[in-house]
Amino acid sequence: MTTTQGLNRKEIFEKSKKVIPGGVNSPVRAFTGLGIDPMIVKEGKGDLITDVDGQSFIDYCMSWGALLHGHAQEEVTQRVIERTKLGTSFGITTEEEQKLAEELIQGVSSLEKVRFVSSGTEAVMSAIRLARGFTRRPIVIKFNGNYHGHADPFLVKAGSGVSQLSQQASSEGVPKEVVKHTLSLPYNDCAVFKKVINDPCYSQCVAGVVLEPIGANMGVVPASAAFLNCLREETQRMGAVLLFDEVISGFRVSYGGAQKLYGVEPDLSCFGKIIGGGFPAAAFGGRKEIMDCLAPQGSVYQAGTLSGNPVAMEAGLATLEIAKRPGFYEELKRKTAIITKPVRRQIKKGCLQETTGMFTLFFGVEKVSSFEDLVNLDKERFKAYFQFMWDKRIYISPSPYEACFISSAHTDEHLEKARDAILEFLRARD
Ligand SMILES: Cc1ncc(COP(=O)(O)O)c(C=O)c1O
Repeated sequence: MTTTQGLNRKEIFEKSKKVIPGGVNSPVRAFTGLGIDPMIVKEGKGDLITDVDGQSFIDYCMSWGALLHGHAQEEVTQRVIERTKLGTSFGITTEEEQKLAEELIQGVSSLEKVRFVSSGTEAVMSAIRLARGFTRRPIVIKFNGNYHGHADPFLVKAGSGVSQLSQQASSEGVPKEVVKHTLSLPYNDCAVFKKVINDPCYSQCVAGVVLEPIGANMGVVPASAAFLNCLREETQRMGAVLLFDEVISGFRVSYGGAQKLYGVEPDLSCFGKIIGGGFPAAAFGGRKEIMDCLAPQGSVYQAGTLSGNPVAMEAGLATLEIAKRPGFYEELKRKTAIITKPVRRQIKKGCLQETTGMFTLFFGVEKVSSFEDLVNLDKERFKAYFQFMWDKRIYISPSPYEACFISSAHTDEHLEKARDAILEFLRARD
């Protein structure tokens, strides 16, 4: 099947390459190294997406975790349509912003105030500026394989699509003078962290420590409770800001995010993806004392034409209303286990790591607690796995460093289909 213009997937991609660098607007969409032309999607409903050639796939990427309830969810769609009729953007405060801010604050106990932005990148970038402004210190510590968006300070040993570019300082165009203020350390390694911060060069100049409390950009790699507690204690002692990047884990692993599961309260947190219900919205928030340093109250500048966009806020509110219903996360966990439990039992030359609503199948490595554990990751086997799933019309995140996402829209039948396909692949290739 072709589009109304008569173009198929391959033709659209070829034409896109002429007008968009690499034919894509985010590198991982290019399917680099997978030997398949990228998906060009036309529509989605529930747990299915259909490409421009009319082929339907069960979707386990779910807009990289943004769609907690699947595609075109009825209630979310209706609310968005109604809100759209009233105007889509004003650059003036709307009540929806106040409502969603209140909802986030009620849901996540460490939040006292929040500010909305349009992407996860913007949220973390702004939160780090705020941490620096609040502490009046320059250095930021991050962890190898964590991804915090594409702002300059974070492009040092980053995860996600960046991990396929290089394992070192990750992009051209980032001045050395900028990255020299970012230290990237091994994830889940409290001893190294303590050693570094006790160095006199750093002990008085760390503004903030940022991490994904459940890593999802080097595959699913949860932090250990001991690591998070160590970071909490040490940042408090140093007077540095502890920043949890919950752009993926927020409202996915529990309504209160990863911080609720671990019982560790950061000073600042970032959210994105789910809170926009499929629209561009993200937020950063935390302790009032820090948040009030933002302009216009304070002297840390941050702004945005589309920040708090009312349509995105309404989509977020509708999404969170559904997630808040009794039993929602228990059900998401049950759905996740349909795939993960039997696969975990079967895999031999690799491992499966998971949390509620997401999982990663790692080939060639036994246990992953840090990016360093991925040196022997078997990318060739991932390539074969991706092709195998593709042929069965199951769309998984197109990189070995990413998570697959389960939504509330995934039916048991489609979860079982994916489970059986993975088991079949493992039987043949493990
Ligand atoms: C943990 C985390 N932080 C930040 C970002 C950046 O968000 P965005 O792509 O919306 O800029 C991402 C994106 O995947 C992410 O996973």
